[in-house]
Amino acid sequence: MAPDPVATSSSRRILLTGASSGIGLDAALRLVGRGHRVWGTSRDPARLPRVSGFHPVALDLGSPQSIESAVAAARESAGAFDVLVNNAGSGRFGPLEHMDDAHVRDQFQVLVFGPLQVLRLLLPDLCETRGKIINVSSLATQYPIPYMGPYSAAKAALSTLSWTLQMELGDRGVQVVDLQPGDILTGFNERLPKTAPEEAGAYRESQQSAFAVYDANQRRACGPERVGESIVRLVESERPLPPRVTVGSRFQAGVAPLLARLVPTRMLRWGLRRYYRLEG
Ligand SMILES: NC(=O)c1ccc[n+]([C@@H]2O[C@H](COP(=O)([O-])OP(=O)(O)OC[C@H]3O[C@@H](n4cnc5c(N)ncnc54)[C@H](OP(=O)(O)O)[C@@H]3O)[C@@H](O)[C@H]2O)c1
Repeated sequence: MAPDPVATSSSRRILLTGASSGIGLDAALRLVGRGHRVWGTSRDPARLPRVSGFHPVALDLGSPQSIESAVAAARESAGAFDVLVNNAGSGRFGPLEHMDDAHVRDQFQVLVFGPLQVLRLLLPDLCETRGKIINVSSLATQYPIPYMGPYSAAKAALSTLSWTLQMELGDRGVQVVDLQPGDILTGFNERLPKTAPEEAGAYRESQQSAFAVYDANQRRACGPERVGESIVRLVESERPLPPRVTVGSRFQAGVAPLLARLVPTRMLRWGLRRYYRLEG
């Protein structure tokens, strides 16, 4: 590992989960490029970059033991943290009726219980440093994706936890942001395990239609730099942070959240069924 650049008073110590690819990798490289020190995680640290200011950490959010030892090792090396970015995550695509309980539990472990455990372990540091927590949820919390029920539900749970933490931590100097990316072109979709058509039963056609729309959106989406830049802005901001930030195309970041608030629920659900071509 290359040595750290000389830390300045504005340089932050950041624990960033899921730094091996996509949004996390982009954010990690930007942050170290600006003089911050990043402890970035992957289940396989060989996948992590080797650059000055970046400290690879092995972390599997599926395992509470791995989380405990990863955070302990990172804290020992960093001293204390100023910022936590809960970014790591993965999804699963398939009809809820045919999804194993184990898969549903795994989504909640990786997207909710794991990040919550990391957050709790780091809270003493963050209270001391009057730090920041950036929880990466998803626009799927406002627009759940069909056949990604457990993913959308787990992201909504993380988003709600960010909201309650904003209220609970208000007096302790820790700021919490719910960062909601829309469609972002990373390798996320290629890694997405999908229920095979022959196992999808009555949902076979509808699952395929929904995936075609979802996949097409991802292919024409903006790159991870849009979210990486937003993470840098949130880390460096001297002003009170906004409670929620939506990042993505102009429509997804600006218009979609407004529609979610203004359009009647029945109409929104009808529109989404048409959008994903789920109409029989
Ligand atoms: N791409 C999008 O359109 C989009 C939209 C909304 C929200 N998001 C969210 O943004 C975050 C980053 O996604 P991305 O698009 O950058 O995807 P990505 O390129 O697949 O990156 C996912 C990162 O999470 C890590 N990860 C996955 N499962 C993990 C586990 N069980 N334990 C520890 N680390 C794990 C991966 O590391 P290793 O595999 O090396 O362990 C990787 O670094 C995720 O939370 C995702 O849900 C993405």
